Amino acid sequence: MPIDTPLVLALPGNEELVLDLAQSLAAKLGRLTLHRFPDGELSVRIHDQVEARDVVLACTLDQPNDKLIALYLAAATLRSLRARRVLLAAPYLAYMRQDRSFHPGEGVSAAHIAQWLSGFLDGLATVDPHLHRIAQLELVYRIPCRAAHAATAIARWIRENVNQPVVVGPDRESQGWASEVAHEVSCPWVVFDKVRFGDRDVEIHPSSLSAYQDRTPVILDDIISSGATMLAAMRQTRLASLAPAVCIGVHGLFTAGVYEQLRHGGAQAVVTSNSVRHISNQIDVHPPLATAVRGLLELRPEAAKPNGGGH
Ligand code: R5P
Repeated sequence: MPIDTPLVLALPGNEELVLDLAQSLAAKLGRLTLHRFPDGELSVRIHDQVEARDVVLACTLDQPNDKLIALYLAAATLRSLRARRVLLAAPYLAYMRQDRSFHPGEGVSAAHIAQWLSGFLDGLATVDPHLHRIAQLELVYRIPCRAAHAATAIARWIRENVNQPVVVGPDRESQGWASEVAHEVSCPWVVFDKVRFGDRDVEIHPSSLSAYQDRTPVILDDIISSGATMLAAMRQTRLASLAPAVCIGVHGLFTAGVYEQLRHGGAQAVVTSNSVRHISNQIDVHPPLATAVRGLLELRPEAAKPNGGGH
């Protein structure tokens, strides 16, 4: 007999998320422990009955390599214990940025990781995945996917905290969310052009900002990683003599020292969502993520594995 109340389990570091998911989904909060052996290998233990039950694993995937192994072991253990479906709630979905072969002989990590995850999960919910050259998750994932959006929560934060904003998208790819957020805030928006030369080397060609001298630039990007994009965009708003910028990233990955560089480099605020835990978190994306997970749970279980893969 299937059990109707889903179980939610946190991989280490996702305890706040799992509490919010349990509450929003009226799900049972379970317990998963991870043991690290002296040689660095991991083992997973599930402390609940999971047979015939849907299980949601909460695991954000910044610094993903170790986390992916833990996630695989958790999902495999749940399958061996005969869980009905194993769903992943990952506020930040890793490995989406290497979305084509940029040099001869180079693998497309986004597709390879998606294929691997699709082999041991029955569904995936995330927040604003990096969909640039891959238009939608289902083009690389073989399982049902739901992408929640941070735009409404970001717009609310801007309305409550910034006077006279102009939303600035640092590159052409950001046009969709920059215009959507600006629309919700009822303020103007512009996008710049960006050329990337390397991991930490970008050049930004600004659009004219002369019409926005009385406004606060709110630079909005999906990911802040090396910070090269944010720093270059901020430089352009400074050169145009605008007020100090507010920098907002949905996912704050922040390689070492970047947050401080942005703060000391003249940003009036650096703000991110809680998709990745960081001191800059001010935007709560757990509610839209919970809605996305609910969408997966509402699918009929048979529909959850389109390729007929069972446990
Ligand atoms: C690019 O495609 C993304 O939207 C971000 O602009 C990029 O990932 C930011 O990375 P970084 O902080 O390393 O410039």
